[in-house]
Amino acid sequence: MQLHRILILSVSSALLWAQHAKDDEAAKHPFMGNPDRIEAGRKTYLGGCAGCHGPEGGGGRGPSLIERGAWHPMTDDNLYATIQKGVGIMPAANLPTDRGWELVAFVRSLTAPAVEMKAPGDAAAGEKLFWSTNGCSGCHRIGGKGGFAGPDLSNIGRTSTLPKLRRSIVDPDFERTPGFERADLTLRDGSKLSGLVKDRTNYRLQLQLKDGALRSVPVETIETVELTKPSIMPADYKTKLTRDDVTNLVSYLRQQGAN
Ligand code: HEC
Ligand code: HEC
Repeated sequence: MQLHRILILSVSSALLWAQHAKDDEAAKHPFMGNPDRIEAGRKTYLGGCAGCHGPEGGGGRGPSLIERGAWHPMTDDNLYATIQKGVGIMPAANLPTDRGWELVAFVRSLTAPAVEMKAPGDAAAGEKLFWSTNGCSGCHRIGGKGGFAGPDLSNIGRTSTLPKLRRSIVDPDFERTPGFERADLTLRDGSKLSGLVKDRTNYRLQLQLKDGALRSVPVETIETVELTKPSIMPADYKTKLTRDDVTNLVSYLRQQGAN
């Protein structure tokens, strides 16, 4: 399974590279990356596409448009043609040219690095929430400050997309990040130890403790190991935070990695 993944990833990066080379040659359509056109495209999308591809592009009767771009790259022209003419059970959209290109710009925005996209929301309010007591910084680091229980988010605007950022906050189990599985150990001497499993071999378990320190635990000293499967990131932000809170957090996080 792991090997399978690695193979797919290397194939996809070759494809992406080829795609990038092509993008550099072709002049971009002026609607690409234009926030007003993307917003107009979103409206058309919600009316005619969301029923099959999901309101956030996550998929349904039709494939996910959030993940799919990574391993199934299409030129902008092909995307336009697919939307206008339809494919398989997907009906032809037959929209006026500008409406069609707005949709292409919107679909592209779903897989573009968040830092390259304009996003609604108040980044300053998001920043405040992120660093507040019991906020996100208890587990996440940005710029060398914060906790160790979750991934460092200093570069998250480059490695994530806007829809993925939103989804990471409201649905942490959707896509796990390796290295953040929590283990509760009982040792042979009766003591207990908890941490994130950073590495394991037949001989030792490497744990990262709450303070960030790494501890290598020889397996022969371990009595029991209890692994916590769901993400340790709280699963209730979807209800605890308002929609505006989430939008503001995304607006703050998308800037991380800007330079
Ligand atoms: C009736 C359901 C349905 C509707 C409505 C629909 N789609 Fe699709 N869409 C699909 C299905 C199913 C596929 C996969 C087709 C195939 O590969 O045979 C698809 C494929 C696609 C693809 C290609 C994905 C890829 O990587 O191959 C894009 C892009 C897309 N749709 C965008 C849109 C947009 C934009 C709209 C709105 C104008 C839309 N779709 C409306 C069902 C739908
Ligand atoms: C109790 C610790 C904890 C808290 C609090 C927490 N997170 Fe997380 N977060 C995690 C962990 C652990 C992951 C990795 C997902 C996993 O479990 O595989 C994660 C993943 C993420 C990711 C995805 C990172 C990536 O590499 O794609 C984002 C974005 C994120 N969190 C944002 C937030 C925001 C915003 C808040 C505050 C509203 C928050 N987190 C609060 C622990 C936490």
